[in-house]
Amino acid sequence: MFFSKKSYTVSIPDRNIVLEAKSGTNLYKLLIDENLINPTLCNGAGQCGKCKMRYISPNIPKPVYKETLILAKVNIDAGYRLACQQVIKKNIEIDISEISSSAKFFNTENKSETKKDETENNNTVENNQNLTAENAKLHEKIDETVSINDFSPEQSYKSSFDIRKEEGPTDGILLIQQRSGIRYYCYSAAIDNIVSEGTHPYNEPLRDIIDNDMLPDFLYSELKIRDIERVMVLIDGNDSYGAETKMDMFRYLNFEIGTQQYEMIMPRGSKSYDIAHFFRLLNADKANQLIFSLDMLNRCHYATPKLFTDMHFPFLRNNNLVAVKPRGLNPITSFNDKLEPAATQNKEKDIDGITLTALLQFVKLMMKQGIINNKFQLKPRNELSKQNVPLGLSVRVYGQETPEGYYIYRDRFAEIVITQNELNELYQIRSYIRSVIDYTRECIGVVNGLIFYTTQTHDDLINLMFDLEFIPKEFANKVIYRPGEATVQAIKLFKEKDVPAFLHVHFNNIKRIDLLEDADFQKAAVSNFLEV
Ligand code: FES
Repeated sequence: MFFSKKSYTVSIPDRNIVLEAKSGTNLYKLLIDENLINPTLCNGAGQCGKCKMRYISPNIPKPVYKETLILAKVNIDAGYRLACQQVIKKNIEIDISEISSSAKFFNTENKSETKKDETENNNTVENNQNLTAENAKLHEKIDETVSINDFSPEQSYKSSFDIRKEEGPTDGILLIQQRSGIRYYCYSAAIDNIVSEGTHPYNEPLRDIIDNDMLPDFLYSELKIRDIERVMVLIDGNDSYGAETKMDMFRYLNFEIGTQQYEMIMPRGSKSYDIAHFFRLLNADKANQLIFSLDMLNRCHYATPKLFTDMHFPFLRNNNLVAVKPRGLNPITSFNDKLEPAATQNKEKDIDGITLTALLQFVKLMMKQGIINNKFQLKPRNELSKQNVPLGLSVRVYGQETPEGYYIYRDRFAEIVITQNELNELYQIRSYIRSVIDYTRECIGVVNGLIFYTTQTHDDLINLMFDLEFIPKEFANKVIYRPGEATVQAIKLFKEKDVPAFLHVHFNNIKRIDLLEDADFQKAAVSNFLEV
């Protein structure tokens, strides 16, 4: 015997619509399927708050966790829920006027259908302003709830999204050119967060899209985004587009196409890493912290509320700690005391590299076994045998008179060696970090803490940097490690109505120091640097 699922009705009285839905149907999906709303910013993931609707029927379901995070309590109490979190299990009566007026980001329909929706939306907005008797009751109820907050009745009726929209940030998208394609972040003002992000593998560079006046088209046709209020584009500063240079840090251009606001921010420099670097600077703490970017070490920064010091040292053999040794597709992730691989990323596959943290762990073990000295210099083989270094380990040191490397791993697919040159690079980076710390303390100001950025996450990296004395022990508990992408900084930009003014306050006075030319830095470096 077959049972078919029970059906329920979903009534939308102000639009004279009654839908039928099988038990268990997701309300957001039903409204999309019925072309009553457009897909929203997070497309049903419960993150953007754009599918907010109101129950008119009694017995409103309890809010789910995501709803308590996104919706204001006053709205939850008034019967608002997220359509994407609603599963239909009974007959319901709802008001969707707020979704249909705000959910207009991703266009999946053809343009004529969309136009119809827009007209409907406008009508709905107008209808909204003429409060129905039902709404008037609701109005009173909300008014009671929020009167302690001194909201006017008019404010209290508006959704939290509308209120924020008038006061501050608007929804937007940030586009960044990367090697793999165009990176994008969609910002929702309703929840003040990035609700979707990704990389579009578009084969035309962002710059060409702009040059050919194709940016609105690109958003519409490729990213399926329309009607977004603010578009920020971060590209390198090769061409100025007639933009103004600000603070010798970046160029900025602001223009409008239709109702959309476009902003182009072009950091100084011409390479993609300058863009990533610029973004990380936005997160610079102003509490007398010294800031290093581990994948772009030749610039570091010290910020106080009054002065932003930009230090430059174009001398490091490798200015990227993360790239001292290539990582491989299936790297070794840790070693045992016998300097043999103890774990790999995927034990089913062939080993072909080593992670940064495993590399530092390996160097620490080499030092413990006496294979390298405290300046990361490989000892000659004959010395190792005198030191009782196990034969198995000492024979892996190659180069007789002038030792050049150590075999980390060797099989028929891979030969992984750490060379003396790589050890020198690591030691030079260590000396550099220590020298900058000493110099800053002696010549610029007190260092309350250190911030290390990387574009990728490396577990246990900071502990190993302490163990190998890249960081002086006295900074234990004063180090902040910030791995990952620029999402946090992207949010910061969207919170600002006036980006140049924000950046101006952020960087205010800038002092640039060429460390290579600075006699005081040279003095600080003498005690830390290795003469190689
Ligand atoms: S669609 Fe429901 S929160 Fe985004």
